[in-house]
Amino acid sequence: MTFKYYVSTWVAAAASSVAAAVLWVATAVLWIAPAYAADPVAGEALYQSCVACHGDQAQGNDALGAPALAGQQAPYIARQIQAYQSGLRGSEDHYAAQMPALVETLSDADTANVAAYVSSLAPVKTPLADGDLRKGNNYYHASCGGCHGGKAEGNDMLQAPRLAGLSAAYLKRQFNHFKSGARGTDDTDRLGRQMNMMAQVLPDEATLDAVIAYITAQAQ
Ligand code: HEC
Ligand code: HEC
Repeated sequence: MTFKYYVSTWVAAAASSVAAAVLWVATAVLWIAPAYAADPVAGEALYQSCVACHGDQAQGNDALGAPALAGQQAPYIARQIQAYQSGLRGSEDHYAAQMPALVETLSDADTANVAAYVSSLAPVKTPLADGDLRKGNNYYHASCGGCHGGKAEGNDMLQAPRLAGLSAAYLKRQFNHFKSGARGTDDTDRLGRQMNMMAQVLPDEATLDAVIAYITAQAQ
């Protein structure tokens, strides 16, 4: 009797821990799945409609105002495409106004795929911008590096994008959009609002130019 009771209790306990393990694995798979779902090969095919502006290596094209996308974090790229789709981005200026129509037909899966593709490309070099590099180094490390990384390589955990490889003109334009509130002030835009706050900390344009010079120096 007692023995049978113990055995059945043990079996029940074992069964419930197996159930718990199965549940745990299922949850883990659900969490991990989106990271593996993206298909960069499908993304490369979709990217062909972006080449005319962003370049065949996703190196960007300053004459058109199109930023480099190569080597950028996939989740950041996907989030920006969704921001153009939802209207969080797109009304800042005539450069931004082009993007919503260009991505409106991308499904969430397409977006993940094209983001995975451009993210897999090697980050590009960019011309060194004018500015006081020593001052830029100091201000960058004091105000930007904590999120964007010491070499402007970005920080996945903090969802702060790579800045190294973006051109001086694009960096300055976006910084000023955050500063003026044209980007990063919507209540639902938690990450944009962080940048809107940080864009207030540089005292003047010469300091911004110095910081941008430092960022471009990380992509030589
Ligand atoms: C007609 C030119 C053009 C085409 C085609 C184009 N883009 Fe853009 N894209 C731009 C410009 C200009 C910007 C800068 C907009 C701004 O200042 O907000 C931009 C910005 C972006 C950004 C924001 C990058 C960042 O660092 O925040 C992403 C992501 C992007 N484009 C993805 C794409 C994808 C994916 C495609 C193809 C499906 C595409 N673009 C097609 C011109 C273009
Ligand atoms: C608290 C963390 C944090 C700090 C500090 C910070 N940033 Fe950011 N930054 C972000 C995040 C998050 C984003 C992405 C916002 C989004 O998703 O729209 C961003 C975006 C940007 C962009 C837009 C990039 C693009 O591809 O469009 C620029 C430019 C930028 N930051 C420059 C700076 C500079 C310069 C500093 C220092 C003065 C700085 N950031 C400090 C978190 C930070």
